[in-house]
Amino acid sequence: MSLAPLVVAHRGASGMRPEHTLVAYEQALREGADGVECDVRLTRDGRVVCVHDRRIDRTSSGSGIVSTLTYEAMAGHDYGTVDDPAEVLLFSDLLDLVLQWKAKPARIFVETKHPVRYGGLIENAVLAELHRFGIGRPPSASMSRAVVMSFAPTAVWRVRRAAPMLPTVLLGNASRYIGGGAATTVGATAIGPSIRTLRDRPALVDRAAAAGRATYCWTVNTAEDAHLCQDLGVRWIATDHPGQVLAWLDES
Ligand code: G3P
Ligand code: CA
Repeated sequence: MSLAPLVVAHRGASGMRPEHTLVAYEQALREGADGVECDVRLTRDGRVVCVHDRRIDRTSSGSGIVSTLTYEAMAGHDYGTVDDPAEVLLFSDLLDLVLQWKAKPARIFVETKHPVRYGGLIENAVLAELHRFGIGRPPSASMSRAVVMSFAPTAVWRVRRAAPMLPTVLLGNASRYIGGGAATTVGATAIGPSIRTLRDRPALVDRAAAAGRATYCWTVNTAEDAHLCQDLGVRWIATDHPGQVLAWLDES
């Protein structure tokens, strides 16, 4: 039996609390998550906010495209639920929360969205925030506290070039990781297949390991999938239910 994978809370403990909100991340940390995942976008005035979709409509009381809204305009809406109201979350506030959390040090898995259209702006903004918190450039005791991820090979390549010591994950399907695939070309630290991809192509994990790459798998919400990842030797699994997945892994 392989070592248990490290458990990353996908958009916070988003199965229980509104995604990408401070309460969702606090709950994930309280449940003992080894890491937290967040998606980031730039507002019109250059603030890095934790929002998954291009628009804020699904996750807030407002409407509009993140990149066309100012932070102030976004802050005027509610990002929680009737029972759980919440403010739009700045990436810097998430960093602050995670780095101040002393009970168990957790990692931040930050996924840059819209990387192609904005030609590197989001990666630069994320790196600037990480650097401000002492992550990702020497001398830095906490350089491994963040991992940068993207579905866009160009985004991973930019991060590798600007901050070679930061771990990276190239997200995507199997074709990315086979032979001279994009993960090799851009030098990603890890591959990032979905659980569906891994169910179909479990050999990807061993192949990646043979090339010196770890595996990060998303989104793992059942005991069966969590145990499959453990058996395959997946290093990190992202889940909407971190406490539950930790308990399942603990039982095995
Ligand atoms: O953790 C990677 C995973 O979050 C990628 O998919 O759509 O949830 O950002 P998505
Ligand atoms: Ca994501």
